Amino acid sequence: MTFREAIRKRARKEPRRIVFPEGDEPRTLKAVAEVQRLGLAEPVLLGEPEAVRSALGSVGGDPDGLEVVDPGSLKGVGPYVRALLDRRRAKGMTEAEARERVRDPLFRGALMVALEEVDGSVAGAVNSTGDVLRAGIQCVGTQQGIKVVSSSFYMVTRDFRGRGEEILTFTDGAVIPDPSAERLAHIAAGASRARRLVVGDSPVVAFLSYSTKGSAEGKSVTKVREALEIFRDMEPGTPADGEFQADTALIQEVARRKAPHSAVGGDANVLVFPDLDAGNIAYKLVERLAGAGAVGPIVQGLRRPCNDLSRGAGPEEIVDVTCITALMAG
Ligand code: ACO
Repeated sequence: MTFREAIRKRARKEPRRIVFPEGDEPRTLKAVAEVQRLGLAEPVLLGEPEAVRSALGSVGGDPDGLEVVDPGSLKGVGPYVRALLDRRRAKGMTEAEARERVRDPLFRGALMVALEEVDGSVAGAVNSTGDVLRAGIQCVGTQQGIKVVSSSFYMVTRDFRGRGEEILTFTDGAVIPDPSAERLAHIAAGASRARRLVVGDSPVVAFLSYSTKGSAEGKSVTKVREALEIFRDMEPGTPADGEFQADTALIQEVARRKAPHSAVGGDANVLVFPDLDAGNIAYKLVERLAGAGAVGPIVQGLRRPCNDLSRGAGPEEIVDVTCITALMAG
């Protein structure tokens, strides 16, 4: 079964309510029609109700089996205004600003997630990553014990170590440019928690570097070692090791030579890159040179899932992110 088939099958088991703040965007509407057809989630769309229903009908969706919310209407916005003010008053937000902000579809969608009216949100076909992230950070906030929102790419690789096709988590690939040791540990925690839900297996975490277990020294090597120690305190139940070069993390033969006492070397499935340059460059090289599939960036670390789409995303990709969002809702 491919990764795409697996996430669809698992999402279908317990369909979640997912809000689409860009409810009148054509690729999103096609994806919603497919989500309805396959029973993958219960979509809630934001937009002008009559226009959204008619557009959904014209792409083969079921306009009757659908909730549409007009974010421009101020009817019933009290709970959203209060929820936003509770989170932002200390940062200087006034009631008038909150009343205005809840009419922004990204904020309304994220507030619906925060108030647990829906299980997650999917947006970004037209809005920027920064705007989607900001709504999630301000309205939903981070998970218990996690201070940063970051991202992972789920790389679907060929058989490279005798275990068939694999899914590897590459983190961070899109959000935090130059993380401190503490932030790197929090990125790793967000990624490993998300992996349990998205892939459904146990994370094995490698902190990557140009050094393996003291083979070289440098500022970034020290940072990676510190991050590993912080991570171990944060997530004692998750196997993690480093600092590792990538081959030590992934290939047992190399790990036996370079890190013989490690329970992680050779078996890692979560690769934590020292910074965003490394993570972003690595995922694109693996995608282009090794022909791996790249699903993401999937946003991690939020209390409840608010996912971002690439602005080039087609309907199939939007369906994938919808299934992943549903799985991240737990
Ligand atoms: N996790 C948690 N909280 C955060 C994060 C984060 N990653 N970033 C900012 N915050 C918080 C801050 O602590 C601050 O909180 P406060 O208001 O309660 O004090 C608040 O958000 C605002 O902080 P700013 O630094 O002003 O951040 P801003 O709102 O301008 O932007 C954002 C935050 C959206 C995450 C921004 O850093 C961003 O756009 N990141 C990059 C995303 C991106 O564009 N990636 C694409 C490039 S890479 C690629 O495409 C592959």
